[in-house]
Amino acid sequence: KKILFAASEAVPFIKTGGLADVVGSLPRYFDRGQYDVRVILPKYACMEERFKNTLQFVTHFYVDLGWRKQYAGILTAKEEGIQYYFVDNEFYFAGEHPYGEIYQDVEKFAFFSKAVLDAVEKIDFMPDVIHCHDWQTGLIPVYLKHVYNTNPAYTKIRTVFSIHNIRFQGRWVIPEVMDITGLPERLFTSDCLESYHKSNYLKGGIVCADAVTTVSKNYAKEIMTPEGGEGLDGVLRRYSDKVSGILNGLDYEEFDPQKDHYIPYHFDTANVVSEKAKDKARLQEVYGLPQKTDTFLLGMVSRMSFQKGFDLVAYILDEFLSVAQVQIVVLGTGETKYEDMFRYFANKYSDKMSVKIGYSEDIAHLVYAGADAFLMPSLFEPCGLSQLMSLRYGTIPIVRETGGLKDTVEPYNKYTQEGVGFSFANYNAHEMKGIIDSAMELYYMHKPEWQALMVRAMQADFSWNKSVQEYAKLYEGICES
Ligand code: ADP
Ligand code: GLC
Repeated sequence: KKILFAASEAVPFIKTGGLADVVGSLPRYFDRGQYDVRVILPKYACMEERFKNTLQFVTHFYVDLGWRKQYAGILTAKEEGIQYYFVDNEFYFAGEHPYGEIYQDVEKFAFFSKAVLDAVEKIDFMPDVIHCHDWQTGLIPVYLKHVYNTNPAYTKIRTVFSIHNIRFQGRWVIPEVMDITGLPERLFTSDCLESYHKSNYLKGGIVCADAVTTVSKNYAKEIMTPEGGEGLDGVLRRYSDKVSGILNGLDYEEFDPQKDHYIPYHFDTANVVSEKAKDKARLQEVYGLPQKTDTFLLGMVSRMSFQKGFDLVAYILDEFLSVAQVQIVVLGTGETKYEDMFRYFANKYSDKMSVKIGYSEDIAHLVYAGADAFLMPSLFEPCGLSQLMSLRYGTIPIVRETGGLKDTVEPYNKYTQEGVGFSFANYNAHEMKGIIDSAMELYYMHKPEWQALMVRAMQADFSWNKSVQEYAKLYEGICES
């Protein structure tokens, strides 16, 4: 079968978050004998030169977008055996960042979605399934069902729409979106694209796709409730027969403590204690903290968004850092108020806390490998990959029980010696602090149990092997119907 992934980001080409990790790794885990999986992305000007330089020109055409015709170039590259295509348009994809203001993005991704549908004919890759990711590609199922349905070449194509974050929906005023997309007025009702008086690409994707998935089973349940649905829970309940949760996997080739080229000392479950301690020393050096092996080192790597629970962290840091025997390292970039908050505390408690504001693959891997524990107290978290990366390196996740964090971090049970991390239920700063204290108690007072916990964490299997089967089954199911 031919499968085309359409998305707004994928590693190694362009990444702002976990979506890129998923789109850049999942295609490689399908059985190549049965599935030819390819990926189509925008060709952003902000992509690194080393990638832009390798792209080969394939063809060009003009996309009908409302009352205009817009140039689309198609380029291609092969990456780790997977064929990637890139849609080029120097006007739409010129920004310094993949995403811009929402009024620009709704037009840019309407263009991208239509260009993807036109491209499949021109590149001679008529897919059985187009697998769309997040609101940026929500219009693909809509165009396919309501515009391309008159073209016999397209009638066999099925669509899967995956929600990686329901918070972002691509909402904008209806008359403008009608004008931009050229979609007929009849689609801008609550049965299709309209939601709370605006046009909503994510809703369009949910309504028109043959199957809808999200990235963990627990998140699939949460988004069907008013608390977690961000206004779309009603639609999701209405279409619940075609909605399912498929847990993200991690690229175990890329995140492998035995051969990760970003970390100085490699390890497996047999030598994790001694070698991880050396990575920890390097991490402390990089962050300019005292190189104390026995001090509990807590790491965070994250987009600095309210989603990630930093308000809880801000609330307890004074109380925590003024007494606790702890070191904290942070890597992240995003909202200024969180960047400034972390800078403030790093300045105030400079022997205990150190912060790097920015994006760095090298440092991220070093934190995953060198820290003792990883803090992820998210307000909401569709799946979360950072906790999976931590587990892989024997770094104990401390998480809030939401979304995929609940599905992946089985809490430590001191009676049975089971579980792989620590978790708390409510979005409450002192509940979080209480659970960090419990983790520290185990670390300082019960070393053998802590070390056994590290080994269990490393043995937890969050590779793609299982989830890829679930996607394959889903593709087969919708192609039969
Ligand atoms: P989200 O997609 O919501 O940001 P995930 O946990 O799914 O959350 O994925 C985040 C990804 O982005 C991980 O691969 C993480 O390592 C990476 N990441 C986040 N911030 C940074 C940063 N400042 N530098 C390097 N990698 C980062
Ligand atoms: C989103 C979510 C994150 C998830 C990622 C990949 O960015 O915030 O929880 O892991 O997508 O699916």
